[in-house]
Amino acid sequence: MKFVRVRAPTKVTLFGEHAVVYGYPAIAAAIPKFVEISMRFRGGDGFAIVFEAPRLRASINRVELPTLSVEIGRHDVENFVAYVKKSLEICASSIGGLDKGLEIRVKSEVPPSIGLGTSAAVSVATLAACLEIHGVKVGREELAKLGWRVEREVQGAASPMDTATVVLGGIRLIDPKGVNHELLREEMEALVGFVPRKSTTAALVKQVNVLRKRVPHVVDGVMECIARVVEQSIDAVRKADLETLGMLANINHGLLQALGVVPEDMDRLVHSLRRAGALGAKVSGAGGGGAFIAFAPSNELEVLARVAKALGAEIASMKIGWLGVEVLNT
Ligand code: PMV
Repeated sequence: MKFVRVRAPTKVTLFGEHAVVYGYPAIAAAIPKFVEISMRFRGGDGFAIVFEAPRLRASINRVELPTLSVEIGRHDVENFVAYVKKSLEICASSIGGLDKGLEIRVKSEVPPSIGLGTSAAVSVATLAACLEIHGVKVGREELAKLGWRVEREVQGAASPMDTATVVLGGIRLIDPKGVNHELLREEMEALVGFVPRKSTTAALVKQVNVLRKRVPHVVDGVMECIARVVEQSIDAVRKADLETLGMLANINHGLLQALGVVPEDMDRLVHSLRRAGALGAKVSGAGGGGAFIAFAPSNELEVLARVAKALGAEIASMKIGWLGVEVLNT
């Protein structure tokens, strides 16, 4: 029996979220928290999907792909399903149809919808597994493009940042206008954690867009400032200059707050990390709660992790930079 297992890392945004949606570069890194997709042909006609994530387990049986939409009042599960379904549709259209009787298991080490790119990891891993099990080989560039299409079609608007990072790995300068997302560094120390998020990436991107329509010159000015932060941080990432990265993280956090995506409790968390010795800290990803990143020398990360946990956060990683999506076995 044919069986495929694919593992995609999740990701953290260092600098440039939201502005990247408007065509400015950003910096993001793969982190060693994974989404694993396994696929096999179980026979029969329809599809079966099983989801597993912290505090979440769901199993869905559907006969045909077009009927694969679920309303079970859990937006996190519904969200997962939307990305898996769109990935299967795009896989089907690029290889001319899917074989019947596919069983798909989605296992995520982190909860969905927290700003660590789980949707990109689910999309990229589903696409990679679907192509592999049908015996189709595509390059990483093509896979990143297909993954970006999934995100755009599910969310309405999305930058290529999350999918490119998850496909290529490392710590990268994402150029939304190109395909050459430069590897700045393989890895570095940093604290990455998260708190629950009430909103979705799509809703937060829309919220920023509404603000931009009301005060376009102001919001465009903020976006340009974010782009300058990214520009200044390129060299600091290459050299792992933690002090400069910390300073720029604090500035970037302030700019995201200006865009209205930093709730009060996230702001408190970020300030507590700075008081506890972080050289800098910021919300990471779309905001609305969700993920954060703090820069500090490696011997201080444990203390910062304890402070974050005491304030209700979970820790995702104490290092950033990891391999991109991998086919583990077939
Ligand atoms: O919160 P996440 O991991 O979904 O990241 C979203 C990053 C944004 O820049 C806000 C959106 C995007 O598509 O780049």
